[in-house]
Amino acid sequence: MTTARRYYHITTFGCQMNKADSERMAGILENMGFEWSEDPNQADIILYNTCTIRDNAEQKVYSYLGRQAKRKHEKPDLTLIVAGCVAQQEGEALLRRVPELDLVMGPQHANRLQDLLQQVFEGNQVVATEPIHIMEDITKPRRDSTVTAWVNVIYGCNERCTYCVVPNVRGVEQSRTPKAIRAEIEELGRQGYKEITLLGQNIDAYGRDLPGVTAEGRHQHTFTDLLYFVHDVPGIERLRFATSHPRYFTERLIRACAELPKVCEHFHIPFQSGDNEVLKRMARGYTQEKYRRIIDTIRKYIPDAAISADAIVGFPGETEQQFQNTLKLVEDIGFDQLNTAAYSPRPGTPAAQWSDQIDEEVKSDRLQRLNHLVATKAAERSQRYLGRIEEVLVEDQNPKDKTQVMGRTRTNRLTFFTGDINQLKGKLVKVKITEARAFSLTGEPIELPAPILV
Ligand code: SAH
Ligand code: SF4
Ligand code: F3S
Repeated sequence: MTTARRYYHITTFGCQMNKADSERMAGILENMGFEWSEDPNQADIILYNTCTIRDNAEQKVYSYLGRQAKRKHEKPDLTLIVAGCVAQQEGEALLRRVPELDLVMGPQHANRLQDLLQQVFEGNQVVATEPIHIMEDITKPRRDSTVTAWVNVIYGCNERCTYCVVPNVRGVEQSRTPKAIRAEIEELGRQGYKEITLLGQNIDAYGRDLPGVTAEGRHQHTFTDLLYFVHDVPGIERLRFATSHPRYFTERLIRACAELPKVCEHFHIPFQSGDNEVLKRMARGYTQEKYRRIIDTIRKYIPDAAISADAIVGFPGETEQQFQNTLKLVEDIGFDQLNTAAYSPRPGTPAAQWSDQIDEEVKSDRLQRLNHLVATKAAERSQRYLGRIEEVLVEDQNPKDKTQVMGRTRTNRLTFFTGDINQLKGKLVKVKITEARAFSLTGEPIELPAPILV
């Protein structure tokens, strides 16, 4: 007789929220006795945690699913799950499209995976996409890294950017309590984690839904208050956060970042377009002038801060001149990194209905021109590191050169240097930068931690 070991596999698409959800769902599956299988074809449970931000992200899932649906005909006890944003968007329709599916579950249901699976094992085909209050989950996530960790602070998004599916698929804003967030970070500190990234789609909205107002009439639990509340957790050396929204970004937050030593000098603040008319049609709620003022203020307090952002080209109605305004903003600001995308019409969003859609060729031409400028500017920004000594938190081996380790500077530049991962993983190392490329650096350690004595 063989004891039945049961395996699961998760493939994750999309943003850091999805990655964080996947780690929690993996924790639940391990708690239920399933073991990780790198190869989906060896797994008894396959979970796709999906993204629908652009059409190509959504289509990817269907091709993966098709293959596993076929496999299910040979292995009927295979459990097939679609979680995440495509699940939320499509719901029941996914079952009609792929009848082999056992479970379709939206992002708000991630913590309920065990209950939902129980229903599946009782022979049901389950769809869980109704809006619910997300419960604190006590199961330990299975985290990919032992050095850096994500911590959700606010779920959902109450904005209505006219191109974006996120509010439809992630639901309304729901902040976790400062106490629950701090408790999770303290536990991570005890486990030896060194760096925490606080996550929210619009992190500046943190606390708006929590009770409590100060004497000055402001919410008691703003994101800035949260930073003060968690920054001194023992063991944690670095704090990061994403994503900031220019509409709500405050000088008070910048001052807190300048003041709190663990908060890293990196800001991710998507601007989407450098043209005011386009920004208005996107319903972003700020102008390019306001965006520039935010960056100026950051640089006033923290001159060396790295700035990254997201931008969209080819939004409906975008003229060449309006696109040029995006190029101008990128030229002027000098981003350390910029995630760019061609506009993709999404189901259930206003802009998808508009008649002034831009031709695909025009979009991809603009994307190429923007990407070219981004790489040029990033390479310029990288030059400032040459000869400098940077603190690098070592995360892993360089997969392309096993004699090297890799980590990030406080400003989030990926950095490689020669070293032994067994000795250096999780260590903060002072590295003298000797080579600078657009998006990464190479250096030499000038001060290594004491070797581990055996
Ligand atoms: N909450 C963040 C971003 C969430 S989505 C913010 O408000 O900035 C991540 C990025 O995907 C966005 O910043 C945007 O640049 C891009 N994006 C969102 N919807 C898109 C669409 N329909 N087409 C192309 N890019 C899109
Ligand atoms: Fe989407 Fe706008 Fe919300 Fe960001 S702020 S997730 S772009 S709706
Ligand atoms: Fe994608 Fe959902 Fe994140 S649509 S970008 S996985 S919130």
